[in-house]
Amino acid sequence: MVTCSAPGKVILFGEHAVVYGEPAVAIAIDKRFRCAMYPADGDVTTVNGLVFDPEKQNYLNCAMEKLGVTEKLDIYTSTELISGAGMGSSAAVTVASLRCLYEMMESVDKETLAKTAFEVEYKVQGNASPIDTSTSTEGGGIVVSSTKGPGFLWDINKGDKTWNIHKSDIPKLKLVLGNTGVHSPTGKLVAKIKEFYKRSSYARDIINEVGVLVERGHEALKTEDLVEVGRLMDQNQRLLSCLGVSHPKLDILIDAARKHSYGAKLTGVGGGGIMMALTDEPEETTKAIEEAGGQAYILTSTNKGLTFK
Ligand code: MEV
Repeated sequence: MVTCSAPGKVILFGEHAVVYGEPAVAIAIDKRFRCAMYPADGDVTTVNGLVFDPEKQNYLNCAMEKLGVTEKLDIYTSTELISGAGMGSSAAVTVASLRCLYEMMESVDKETLAKTAFEVEYKVQGNASPIDTSTSTEGGGIVVSSTKGPGFLWDINKGDKTWNIHKSDIPKLKLVLGNTGVHSPTGKLVAKIKEFYKRSSYARDIINEVGVLVERGHEALKTEDLVEVGRLMDQNQRLLSCLGVSHPKLDILIDAARKHSYGAKLTGVGGGGIMMALTDEPEETTKAIEEAGGQAYILTSTNKGLTFK
């Protein structure tokens, strides 16, 4: 029997643009996906007592295919993450499942695991960056960039792109999440942006602009200049809106949260899902988000990446 868990994440700056090789900054959050795997009692694989459905459990299915697992398993899962919201639920599922599957076969280092997890996300979604899977594997603050710098962990390549993954000491931030309740699967929106990127120099310009903003955002985080971090979060949100990944409900929650915040933006995939505000007044921000119709959580980051247990 093997049991693993992995955290979700929020992206502070740079979602979507990171798929095209621009930098991004993320932190792991104190909400996890857990799974335990046993050799099956019966002659089919089960998940939480039901027959495994490869269509529905597509990340798990792809992880098993990638490692060539044919053995039948009884798998038990539980999660604190909202799926299809931009919290890194699919990355946490992929990372924890892969770790359990690897453990049944051979030992694996974090870098190989993060690379395989990225390949799984890429295959299921049709396009992806490694930010979610690397953050879920490593925990803490993660910066992805096209060049190597301090805190370098590993690089991940696909086609003509190289993402250098770095550990970064991001200060403790008071962040409040607001869930719109609008389900937004990552693959669909990532595919929409891929089309936009291919056909429009406007989309490519916005993505480059996000890249410049992320560098400044990372500097402001390092110097704990929260006013500047908030201002850049607002600006990142404007650029994401121009890319077409905001949503009327996100805009409402973001406007409500800004009254008590340094800044606010969608985080993760957008198109619904969740927003995030940086604030000194988490209770007031929570209230404002809830009054505007969202479900709010005060967020705690974690340095705990993938673990056995
Ligand atoms: C989703 O959490 C982040 C995106 O940038 C997709 C990705 O990086 O794979 C939208």
